[in-house]
Amino acid sequence: MARKKISLIGGGQIGGVLAQLCALRELGDVVLFDIVEGLPQGKMLDIAEVGPVDRYDVCLKGTNSYEDIKGSDIVIVTAGLPRKPGMSRDDLIEVNSKIMTSVAEGIKQYAPDSIVIVISNPLDAMVTLCQKITGFPHSRVIGQAGVLDSARFATFIAWELGVSVKDVTAMTLGGHGDDMVPLVRYASVNGIPVMELLEQKYNDKAKAKEVMEAMVKRTRGAGGEVVALLKTGSAFYSPASSAIAMAESILKDQKRVLPTCCFLQGEFGVSGFYVGVPAVLGEKGVESIIQFKLDAEEQAMMDKSVAAVKELVGSMK
Ligand code: APR
Repeated sequence: MARKKISLIGGGQIGGVLAQLCALRELGDVVLFDIVEGLPQGKMLDIAEVGPVDRYDVCLKGTNSYEDIKGSDIVIVTAGLPRKPGMSRDDLIEVNSKIMTSVAEGIKQYAPDSIVIVISNPLDAMVTLCQKITGFPHSRVIGQAGVLDSARFATFIAWELGVSVKDVTAMTLGGHGDDMVPLVRYASVNGIPVMELLEQKYNDKAKAKEVMEAMVKRTRGAGGEVVALLKTGSAFYSPASSAIAMAESILKDQKRVLPTCCFLQGEFGVSGFYVGVPAVLGEKGVESIIQFKLDAEEQAMMDKSVAAVKELVGSMK
């Protein structure tokens, strides 16, 4: 059986971590592409030279030529500027749209059968643009946002309750912006509703609600919290790990249910836009979207988030 091939477009902070994770997990051979000469070559040489220590054996290539992505099974895109303190993801739209246009043209020409996972921000708009330019089926162009937003929500819940992060399940839907929709009702510790545990902890329903609201707020602003601390860029370990979970599910046909930025055609009352929803990810990309009924409050939050996505996408020239 041929080895899988993963191409990473953008060899910056996230691109480098993606390459290392692909190698550590031996997901396949890896190509790292960047427009900066020497950057992807240097990073891949650095990662390759530690194969004997970490005991991975995959081909790693850094390149400035799109030809090298030929035959890719998966392409993960991080090309584009990250935010600086005080910026919203949406502030990146003009410059990153130009970058995404050239990247998508390269993918279309050289990796026409690949499944594309976009990480570049503003995410919902960049996925939309990437699909439009490649013309690939919507099931093969998706975005990473929800795995990370959900992981952030779960982390805050675990810290608050003093339990292992391994036992917390939490999901965040909607767009990858300040209006994202952390689903409080479905947040659990091994199936036990988090709200019930908070009410037990504080013996006070109002206080439990207040604590949850603070965690929801922190989740919505979690990317900005990292940007404010780093000052020179945005989160990179966590988006890389999140995209690798999606890529692994596709490459190994695991059919994991992961919150994914998917093109909706009526699901959750949304048509014709990319929005974060739970999706089954397998060898064909998005194999199905898991639907369930939102309550009135959740649907209102979803509608608000979708309205923000529509405005963002509409603002692209
Ligand atoms: N083609 C390919 N790569 C490009 C292009 C292009 N046209 N333009 C810029 N790049 C590269 C840069 O040279 C840089 O190495 O994209 C890389 C981006 O890396 P970083 O600046 O380190 O940004 P990173 O933290 O990796 O984030 C990338 O993901 O989460 C989002 O908001 C984040 O939009 C940002 C993207």
